[in-house]
Amino acid sequence: MPMTTVPATTILYCADPLNARRTDPHFAAEARALRAQGATVALVDHDALLAGDADAAVARVPAAAGGVRYRGWMVPAARYAELDGALRRRGAELCTGPEEYRRAHELPGWYETFAALTPASVWLPTAPGEAPDGERLAALAAGLPPGAAVVKDYVKSRKHEWREACHIPDLGDPAALHRVVSRFVELQDGFLAGGVVLRAFESFVAPGGAAAEIRVWWRDGEPRLFTAHPDSPVTEVAEIPARDLEPVRAAVRALDCPFVTTDLALRADGAWRVVEVGDGQVSDLHREVDPALFTALLTDDQTAAAS
Ligand SMILES: Nc1ncnc2c1ncn2[C@@H]1O[C@H](COP(=O)(O)OP(=O)(O)O)[C@@H](O)[C@H]1O
Ligand SMILES: [Mg+2]
Repeated sequence: MPMTTVPATTILYCADPLNARRTDPHFAAEARALRAQGATVALVDHDALLAGDADAAVARVPAAAGGVRYRGWMVPAARYAELDGALRRRGAELCTGPEEYRRAHELPGWYETFAALTPASVWLPTAPGEAPDGERLAALAAGLPPGAAVVKDYVKSRKHEWREACHIPDLGDPAALHRVVSRFVELQDGFLAGGVVLRAFESFVAPGGAAAEIRVWWRDGEPRLFTAHPDSPVTEVAEIPARDLEPVRAAVRALDCPFVTTDLALRADGAWRVVEVGDGQVSDLHREVDPALFTALLTDDQTAAAS
């Protein structure tokens, strides 16, 4: 299916929660770089959006803005659909539609397309605060190869609470499985996105001196920027051999979303693997990347459409 991106004329940033007329400080340098390039920036109220008041969230977006791209903090897929509705009522349209956003943002949306390239995964829809019981977890875990695993929700893990709420040393230990998953659900609290995901553990290695994960930024199926993962202490990125990048490109194209990221890590056996996929609008950029280099990904629809 051909990519039919709506060209963006305006980029929507999250407003500073303390001052509705300013860009959130986390994104201020990017928005400045865009304005310096002559692009139009407008602000949305992320708090209002998450609270369910999408019309208030877009009250400062100029009427009839046309194609817009969102750039800011993560938004749950259902709230993104509300953002889309509110913008349409004002005569604007997100370049990434709500279905495309959900497909790239949530693991069940992208998993099948990337199945050969990413750790084996199984999931169970779960309401916030309600950890599945031991029996359901054991049934879920039976869908994975035996051994270690990690738990996350459809969007995020608790990787900084690795032993307590992320890493499952052995799926064959039902008590430990239940303990780690329950703690994960408890800590995610009201932010649990979609459900519980179990993923087979794979051993990743950091190529000497380079970032352990490379975030590849794709526009319209093309890899446009390679950066260190935002958590990486080093900015150096290893070169991904073409034979390893090609299958990722094919999967990104099959996913058919205009702006996505893939986080790639080198497995101990030398294979480059996709740790996760994300929607580029809400993927964090490593703080040492020149914002002016990044902003082209948000604006150059004409070039992309012509190529
Ligand atoms: N299947 C896996 N095997 C080994 N390590 C993993 C696996 N999945 C995730 N990790 C580790 O946990 C980290 C967080 O997982 P990730 O899926 O990227 O969640 P988050 O959205 O919180 O970044 C990854 O950066 C990686 O280091
Ligand atoms: Mg990650």
